[in-house]
Amino acid sequence: MSFYRDFNDKVAIEAWTTSTRPAYRTIEVKRLTPTIGAEIGGVDLGRDLSDEQFAEIHRALDENLAIVFRDQDITREDHKRFARRFGNALHKHELAATRFKHDGVFDPELLAWKTGRDSRFTAGDGWHPDVSCDPSPIAVSLLRVTKTPPIGGDTAFANMYLAYEFLSDPFKQLLDGLTAIHDGSLAWTAGYGAKPDPGKTYPQTEHPVVATHPRTGRKFLYVNASFTSHIVQLTRKESDAILQHLYHHIEGQLALQTRVHWQSNSLLVWDNWASQHHAVWDYYPEERWGERVSVVTGEAPQARLPIAEAAE
Ligand code: SIN
Repeated sequence: MSFYRDFNDKVAIEAWTTSTRPAYRTIEVKRLTPTIGAEIGGVDLGRDLSDEQFAEIHRALDENLAIVFRDQDITREDHKRFARRFGNALHKHELAATRFKHDGVFDPELLAWKTGRDSRFTAGDGWHPDVSCDPSPIAVSLLRVTKTPPIGGDTAFANMYLAYEFLSDPFKQLLDGLTAIHDGSLAWTAGYGAKPDPGKTYPQTEHPVVATHPRTGRKFLYVNASFTSHIVQLTRKESDAILQHLYHHIEGQLALQTRVHWQSNSLLVWDNWASQHHAVWDYYPEERWGERVSVVTGEAPQARLPIAEAAE
């Protein structure tokens, strides 16, 4: 008698949790769960960080995918300065000037929103990475919640390395080599009622279904319920069935998730390729205000790293 391959996830968790993680010298790292999320201590984001301390923070992000800093009473300039340490340029969101505008002040590098009694949607209320429809999707996002509700309003995260590793080998082989379309209109027109400017369309990009992370060399699942419309190489029915299966897999596997609770003066940073997140809107009619700065590196997700990089 043989059994289903339901132990795959345990094997993957053991490999993940026992992977070598050198001790940190300049920061404190307290993991939120065995599989994703950590609180980082010993850092003052109001000051310039040394290269060594920043390198350890970036490694903590690689290892934990969502990291939260507490008691950081920082300005918008501090927020952006820290963001710029992660990459070349700050992302300018298509909807920053229209759907998400803060006190009438438009800063293209800051996506700001206020959710309250009159809101009919809030940013990120469903599993997604940010803006995967871009050719070079956001690599890292950094969020401050500047007004927290009395209770609730967590941000949930799921680990896309483990979402891939939890699958059986034949299923992984089926997905490896496929590509999918990520379409901005799916998330923004259906989600927020937004329409592109006349004569324009929202970005649409084909990305690998399984990509390899340029920093870690690990494979992660790169489809999501908000932006991914279909898998290019399959029939519509096959694509719908496989995508639905993968979305249920991501949403339903609590072992690859965590929830970050907000406190005042917290800054949350996530790896926007190897994780998905979900802003939990359970605080209605209370208010929650957010300000996000995001980093683009100019890279696109690749199924495989170029040979030279992979060999390093
Ligand atoms: C988002 O960036 O998708 C919003 C996350 C949040 O508000 O918790």
